[in-house]
Amino acid sequence: MMEFIVDQEKCTKCGECATDCPYNIIELSPEFPAIVSDKEERCIKCQHCFAICPTGAISIFGKKPEDSMALKGGYPSVEQMECLIKGRRSVRRYRDEAIDPEVIAHMLDVVANCPTGMNNKQLLFTVVDDAEVMKKVRHETMEGIREALITDNIPSGMEFYDKLLEAWDNGNDVIFRNAPHLLIISTHTDGPSPIQDTIISLSYFELLAHSMGIGTVWNGLAQWAMDSIVLNMKEKLCIPEDHLVGYMMIFGKPAVKYHRTVQRGDAHINKVKL
Ligand SMILES: Cc1cc2nc3c(=O)[nH]c(=O)nc-3n(C[C@H](O)[C@H](O)[C@H](O)COP(=O)(O)O)c2cc1C
Ligand code: SF4
Ligand code: SF4
Repeated sequence: MMEFIVDQEKCTKCGECATDCPYNIIELSPEFPAIVSDKEERCIKCQHCFAICPTGAISIFGKKPEDSMALKGGYPSVEQMECLIKGRRSVRRYRDEAIDPEVIAHMLDVVANCPTGMNNKQLLFTVVDDAEVMKKVRHETMEGIREALITDNIPSGMEFYDKLLEAWDNGNDVIFRNAPHLLIISTHTDGPSPIQDTIISLSYFELLAHSMGIGTVWNGLAQWAMDSIVLNMKEKLCIPEDHLVGYMMIFGKPAVKYHRTVQRGDAHINKVKL
């Protein structure tokens, strides 16, 4: 049976929990809210009932309201959000300094709150939080590319990786930019929106990272290498075979500072007028 506990001392019977439940499975009967038992399986675990209760009367799935953050006054201002969205840059120069693994773990716990098509924690965060491990990932990727070039196993259109290898041999890491950390987000393919879920979560990670002074780059070059050239990389990183890898992102403490936003111009808008 689904855990949905209402503290009757705190409940004012305002009905907000029942009204906001997207699947209408909460009833205010006989006196206090309760889940209609034959509708239990419709619960999508969104926790809206828990979040909306003004008095913190609801505990659900073992979660207690006192362990949540209060929202009042806790959001960044509009100006701060605009500055973050416009001011975030792809960071391609990193300090030779690792981030505390506990800080990274906390960031991932925060990002695990991002919206997904299903609220069932299907996302897998494959993270390199140890700069020494990152060196091995970098080395193995580049050696995999070398092997593919030697054995003529580079897919058509990706021949330019020979130049990236040449740069690597000359001490220039064009693919991983010497970043100390890597995050790959993957998920089961059987959910309703696997690609979207992974990309949304990486986007949230990126914004959170930049708000903390941590730089990131979406890493297409490494992603394509893993998808099409170094085919055993996914297995080496212990990403389950039946997972779809959304994308990779490198991150670390920046060795570069930007002083202003770029100006990409106005949005292209298709205003619907029916
Ligand atoms: C899906 C995606 C893949 C990317 N792949 C790479 C990459 O492999 N290497 C890199 O240096 N930058 C990569 N970038 C960063 C883009 O080049 C960068 O976002 C763009 O030039 C705009 O610069 P900005 O992020 O500083 O605004 C990627 C960005 C996205 C969204
Ligand atoms: S939202 Fe909270 S206070 Fe209002 S009826 Fe539901 S449990 Fe009671
Ligand atoms: S978690 Fe969401 S779907 Fe489930 S009872 Fe609460 S509001 Fe309804």
